Amino acid sequence: MAQQDDVFKKIVSHAKEYGFVFPSSEIYDGLSAVYDYGQNGVELKNNIKRYWWDAMTLLHENIVGIDSAIFMHPTIWKASGHVDAFNDPLIDNRDSKKRYRADVLIEEDLAKLDDKVEKEVAKARKRFGETFDEALFRETNPRIAQILAEKTELTERFAKAMNDNNLEELRQIIIDREIVCPISGTRNWTEVRQFNLMFKTEMGSTADGAMGVYLRPETAQGIFVNFLNVQKTGRMRIPFGIAQIGKAFRNEIVARQFIFRMREFEQMEMQFFVRPGEELTWFQTWKEFRLKWHKALGLGDEKYRYHDHEKLAHYANAATDIEFQMPFGFKEVEGIHSRTNFDLSQHEKFSGKNIKYFDPELNESYTPYVIETSIGVDRMFLSVLCSSYEEQQLEGGEKRVVLHLPAPLAPVKCAVMPLVKKDGLPEKAREIVNELKFDFSTHYDEKDSIGKRYRRQDAIGTPFCITVDHQTLEDNTVTLRHRDSMEQSRVNIDDLHKLIHDSVSINSLLRKLK
Ligand code: GAP
Repeated sequence: MAQQDDVFKKIVSHAKEYGFVFPSSEIYDGLSAVYDYGQNGVELKNNIKRYWWDAMTLLHENIVGIDSAIFMHPTIWKASGHVDAFNDPLIDNRDSKKRYRADVLIEEDLAKLDDKVEKEVAKARKRFGETFDEALFRETNPRIAQILAEKTELTERFAKAMNDNNLEELRQIIIDREIVCPISGTRNWTEVRQFNLMFKTEMGSTADGAMGVYLRPETAQGIFVNFLNVQKTGRMRIPFGIAQIGKAFRNEIVARQFIFRMREFEQMEMQFFVRPGEELTWFQTWKEFRLKWHKALGLGDEKYRYHDHEKLAHYANAATDIEFQMPFGFKEVEGIHSRTNFDLSQHEKFSGKNIKYFDPELNESYTPYVIETSIGVDRMFLSVLCSSYEEQQLEGGEKRVVLHLPAPLAPVKCAVMPLVKKDGLPEKAREIVNELKFDFSTHYDEKDSIGKRYRRQDAIGTPFCITVDHQTLEDNTVTLRHRDSMEQSRVNIDDLHKLIHDSVSINSLLRKLK
């Protein structure tokens, strides 16, 4: 675990050193849980967003996009339930004066039980060597059975406390499990209280009678309130979806783990409107499609798992998370929710407007049911960054840090380098840049030794380096170096475009989703 913490710290400082992510307002000592994306970060983030947007809107002719405003009528948040129920249970440690989410403390305690199981398995694997039957061991080992029974009991108790909104019971679980504050190491806890996560501000001058408005805590409501606008103007027929990418804001109690939990972040959400009764089939379809989308990036299939919700929101009839193995454990990156007709019905009730759909095939009107897919851009960014980072020991004692970013997501696709700064090589290299730059983000670099220049590109995950040397002037060929293998091959300049395109285009990812 300590080793994983070290790696994570290195990733965070790498992200800063190479222009991916900076702490916000750094010269004023930063702003907690708010981050800025640098010159490479913004490109990586835009590529993630492009991949999502195209996978949703290009590959599905019944999904269209919108871009709704961050400010919305405050009644929307009353209707959606956010004013009354978008709360987290918080608890303070009296000694460290640190504030925690009570549910997160318990979830972390549950995760420790999973770790215990894995430790038992690892120990046995070591002991039995090649003859080890892992499946049988997991099924029959009494120690594992005991840990799993403890986990089931805790999970059920926790789910009941959350469902019943029983804050005293949440505190009691923390006491009974002897959970300590990671800072003070003590169990001197306060009561558990509810805390609303929405940021509030005012719109209009006080003289006019200012109106209290919220910064949206999710983009989804912008989709719900535009349901009829899009359905009517786009002549959409159910089933159809509306996709949106945009900022969301939550006054998170505990903001930790870099860009994993931020107060200002970005979401990519899609609401898919279906006939009542068909929602669970569509839920399954979207669950599978979304996991396929993740896996197509090639970060490692074993790094994903579903986490089906035990505790369902009162309006949901199915929900699952797609979790990714971060350096600090499996964590939610995306949620897929079957939200019934709750949101549209609530907006119908609160606005007094009819928000029904007339289904020409059934010849009847109804309030559509909704399947939502909701993924955080920043968490996706973090999963890509963490799984791409590698410190490699090279032959000859040299080391390199390389980001094995999926090529279509890489901020820079290729770097063109003249071997020396004379003999017409810089001019030839510029010529190549001037051709490639129309299609690919292309760097020109002539400073330092070629080895150093390669390292700089490895560190930001550039898939290709193109070196121009004296032979180039004679036969129009260059050296093409591949980031991951470091292999170099001699290729004709005329073939560069196709070679690069085949590897870096978002299309190559989209085709895997068919
Ligand atoms: N409309 C449904 C919704 O907002 P959610 O599970 O609260 O559901 C969806 O959020 C996704 O948004 C999460 O899976 C996560 O990736 C991202 N997300 C939520 N809170 C976040 C935060 N504070 N910082 C970064 N990403 C966050």
